[in-house]
Amino acid sequence: MQTPHPGSPPLPEWLGQRLRAAGGSVPFRDYMEWVLHDPDHGAYGSGRLAIGPRGDFATAPSLGAEFAQLLAPQVAQWLALLPAESPLALVETGPGEGQLAQQLAEALHTGWPELAGRTELVLVEPNAGMARRQRQRLLGCPLPVRWIDFDALARAPLRGVVLAHEVLDALAIERIERREDRWCRQHVVLRGEGLSLEAAEPLAGPVLDQLGSLGLLPLDGSRPEGWCSELHPGLEPWLAACAGALVAGWLLVIDYAHEARRYYAPQRSAGTLMAYRRQQACDDPLREPGQWDLTAHLCLESLEAAARAGGWQPLGGCRQGEALLALGLASRLHALQQEPACRLAELLQRRESLLRLVDPAGLGDFRWLAFRRDRSVEGRPSTSGDRPLFLSAPSL
Ligand SMILES: C[S@@+](CC[C@H](N)C(=O)[O-])C[C@H]1O[C@@H](n2cnc3c(N)ncnc32)[C@H](O)[C@@H]1O
Repeated sequence: MQTPHPGSPPLPEWLGQRLRAAGGSVPFRDYMEWVLHDPDHGAYGSGRLAIGPRGDFATAPSLGAEFAQLLAPQVAQWLALLPAESPLALVETGPGEGQLAQQLAEALHTGWPELAGRTELVLVEPNAGMARRQRQRLLGCPLPVRWIDFDALARAPLRGVVLAHEVLDALAIERIERREDRWCRQHVVLRGEGLSLEAAEPLAGPVLDQLGSLGLLPLDGSRPEGWCSELHPGLEPWLAACAGALVAGWLLVIDYAHEARRYYAPQRSAGTLMAYRRQQACDDPLREPGQWDLTAHLCLESLEAAARAGGWQPLGGCRQGEALLALGLASRLHALQQEPACRLAELLQRRESLLRLVDPAGLGDFRWLAFRRDRSVEGRPSTSGDRPLFLSAPSL
């Protein structure tokens, strides 16, 4: 049982009411959904969270346009493989502040004007508070932009590229705990004026079978009492909806992830769930509900299984550091040395941002994972033409 963070403000009234209406106890997944996405009180739903080095947490595109400029040739490679003259879509799911969408649109417009001329930006953002800021940022976007909701996405007949940059880690997860020789689902429980995280009903049926079949967790009880971790039941429907959007195209997932053997290692006894706010990290997901971002790593094997089940063909992946080197980050660093020294402060800042993108202890450890979808030729193996550029040898 985990109890509230010492010194936390009282439980917000809205959450107390919601929990009481649910009988005083809900699966962690429901709690995470509420505190992130409730339209009035959720950290994203209300638009409260700000992304960037001066906001709650930084992401790669929030450090400057270089990340999008390095990614643009990858997007262009894929768009150029689609039938000539067909309308194209660049879909970004979970666009946050809209920085990546805006920067990629500018990079495509400048570097690949013919492709850009046929491409529309399609943004999928469930949270009205975030969508408001995206609309503001994208007012001068050089590509046509529209926002669609997830249901519409699942039925859209698009050809193009779907990007999922730091969005799958925000899908609500199921917390599980080893208790009395069984795997149990954790609930968030109302206790007096506070919250606690407690093992509740045992996992059963398909969830347990899935764990066994994927080999994710030892089902024999070799984890100690109280050991807990996460499962990702939201991935498969999410990936299936994205696959439904594409007649043909590619999905690029960029996110924190571990192999199952690392994710579910005996020593990782509290999973990967973390909270972020004002550039601070905290391992208590019950702290100040609705004020903090909650995020959990992806498990690579679960992601791949969910992607296959959703209709995607995996094309491979690597760490962000390797991907960005393959896309020319080292040449960019080198080119900075040729710039006039009178712009020293700006050059040093760009150098720092580029190095941060590949830092193996930070963003450089993110995974880039590519998937392909072609409804017209289901089952056809991928060709050498669509081998992702970011998986080629680094250009140093
Ligand atoms: C961590 S932010 C990432 C923002 C941006 N991609 C970036 O890297 O700067 C997560 C974004 O995903 C959105 N989001 C959360 N759940 C989502 C879902 N199920 N589908 C699409 N977007 C979602 C959030 O509202 C937010 O805009």
